[in-house]
Amino acid sequence: MVGAGSVGTSLAYAALIRRSASEVILYDIDAAKTEAEVLDLAHGTQFTGTSRVSGGGDISCVAGASVVVITAGAKQKPGQTRLELAGTNVAILETLMPRLLEQAPNAVYLLVSNPVDVLTVAAAQISGLPDGHLFGSGCVLDSARLRWLIAERSGVSQQSVHAMMLGEHGDTEFPLWSQAKIGTVPLREWRDDGGSRLFSGDVRATIHDEVVHSAYKIIAGKGATNYAIGLSGARIVEAVLRDEKAVLPVSTVLHGYRGIDGVALSVPAIVGARGIERVLDTPMDEQETRWLDRSASTLHASLTSLGL
Ligand code: LAC
Repeated sequence: MVGAGSVGTSLAYAALIRRSASEVILYDIDAAKTEAEVLDLAHGTQFTGTSRVSGGGDISCVAGASVVVITAGAKQKPGQTRLELAGTNVAILETLMPRLLEQAPNAVYLLVSNPVDVLTVAAAQISGLPDGHLFGSGCVLDSARLRWLIAERSGVSQQSVHAMMLGEHGDTEFPLWSQAKIGTVPLREWRDDGGSRLFSGDVRATIHDEVVHSAYKIIAGKGATNYAIGLSGARIVEAVLRDEKAVLPVSTVLHGYRGIDGVALSVPAIVGARGIERVLDTPMDEQETRWLDRSASTLHASLTSLGL
């Protein structure tokens, strides 16, 4: 875990509780804080099973890591968009990536810092790692928000809600409504106990808006988001370490995907031991295709402004 801020420490905590990894290592330039976080986490490992936790302010602590999770960087201020963080956090990566690769050249790299789609492209260019070996957490968290909202309205377990957010992890993300299901029922066909369709166009638009604005709402109230992104990151790490071949909406640099080139955004992808093993050409309706193109052009403009 690179970065011992609220996201990095929440992800480490989630990984311990979920037993995502045999060892969780925390690294940050702030040695004193990192050592304190490590101690605080280690003191609880009696209750979390066999995972070990270690780390500190010396980057050599990440040597030999199987997965390196990057959460370091500036975070959104109230009302600030994720894309407005790009310049600052790309500059951090330019220094950080070469140093990490010296210590862990064979690791799978997971970007979590924002704007995660832009940073995924930057990190891929800086590192030269093979496609898939480096990717971003993308819309895994957003999809969890979407599933929670659908489960709350339908009264069905989140585990039986199959729905994804795709595109930018940001303002232009969109629900893949055409492929969403509750159990085996297409979401658009789902009816409430009275027999009326629950997820009308207006309801879907409201849910879409709630997902897009979730982070802004939380940041306005508590200054940052950390628990759900921490759990989302731990979930992705598990898919890699356990070679799950799980289909997750993660951010990867696309090449010739529906005409999109050189932009990273979230589409369903198979995640396993080598990172992203295959990107899926998921069915989309016309509206979803327009939304995907909007995400791609928004991110392309941000990359161009940064010279990436
Ligand atoms: C959020 C941050 C992780 O969506 O971008 O909460």
